[in-house]
Amino acid sequence: MSTPHTTPGNPLAGQRVVVMGGSSGIGEASAVLFAADGAEVIITGRGQGRLDAAASRIGGKVTTYRLDASDRPAVDAFFAESGPIDHLVIALSGAKGGGSFAELDLAELAEGFDGKFWPHANTLQAALPTLRRDGSVTLVTAASARAALPGTAGLAAINGALEAMVPPLAVELAPLRVNAVSPGVVDTPWWDAVPAERRQALFDGFAAITPVGRVGRPEDIARAVHLLTANDFVTGVVLEATGGATLATGR
Ligand SMILES: NC(=O)c1ccc[n+]([C@@H]2O[C@H](COP(=O)([O-])OP(=O)(O)OC[C@H]3O[C@@H](n4cnc5c(N)ncnc54)[C@H](OP(=O)(O)O)[C@@H]3O)[C@@H](O)[C@H]2O)c1
Repeated sequence: MSTPHTTPGNPLAGQRVVVMGGSSGIGEASAVLFAADGAEVIITGRGQGRLDAAASRIGGKVTTYRLDASDRPAVDAFFAESGPIDHLVIALSGAKGGGSFAELDLAELAEGFDGKFWPHANTLQAALPTLRRDGSVTLVTAASARAALPGTAGLAAINGALEAMVPPLAVELAPLRVNAVSPGVVDTPWWDAVPAERRQALFDGFAAITPVGRVGRPEDIARAVHLLTANDFVTGVVLEATGGATLATGR
């Protein structure tokens, strides 16, 4: 006899969710979904002004904590003060490490690891004593890890290193669930360093080779983050959210 279906209600209502890098882009959009579910959300970032502005856009039960995730003692202090946490999302950005490999300054690639790989690893390790035993961690990596796009070998190394950790950690840290969302190109403030006209041309070019015909919006990726956080039967997964851009044949 099969178990009757129950109405689980909202699995995240009343839960405590930390979004590292929640003051912008994908992290902020994820915080919006968690807050709308009635979760208690803590967003972190380095700029208090950006955190305050994001908190007012997010609404609901959201608090802010200013923190540089590359500063391990600061990350430890945060988790020592945070109280118990059910779910952790790590959406910290790192910008360095891209460009033609033949010309890539390897010191810049190391800075890329310092900007993304190590802050993710720091945060995940520091959070473990505070995270609910059967809660979840969701990393935000990047589809460059496997997309084979020229000029992205360094980014592939950084994000591939994080993605490679997901399956072994899902087994080693069980019943904690460990997953990642691997986004394609997403229109977020991450791209603000690129002049507007060039950025639009890049987005148009990516849209043209993407089966869904557009680049991503932060909320597209947030819905994937929410799915991995809320579904307690999913672990060890790297979920690509790329609009199909990484499919071999493209459009
Ligand atoms: N946008 C894309 O096209 C794209 C594509 C693939 C993957 N991704 C990945 O998606 C993730 C989120 O990117 P996004 O596009 O949402 O970027 P974003 O809009 O620039 O947001 C990044 C967030 O991380 C915070 N942050 C960055 N470094 C931090 C640090 N050391 N300590 C604490 N907070 C830090 C930022 O706040 P502060 O600056 O105030 O600290 C901000 O809240 C990144 O890992 C990125 O690599 C993005």
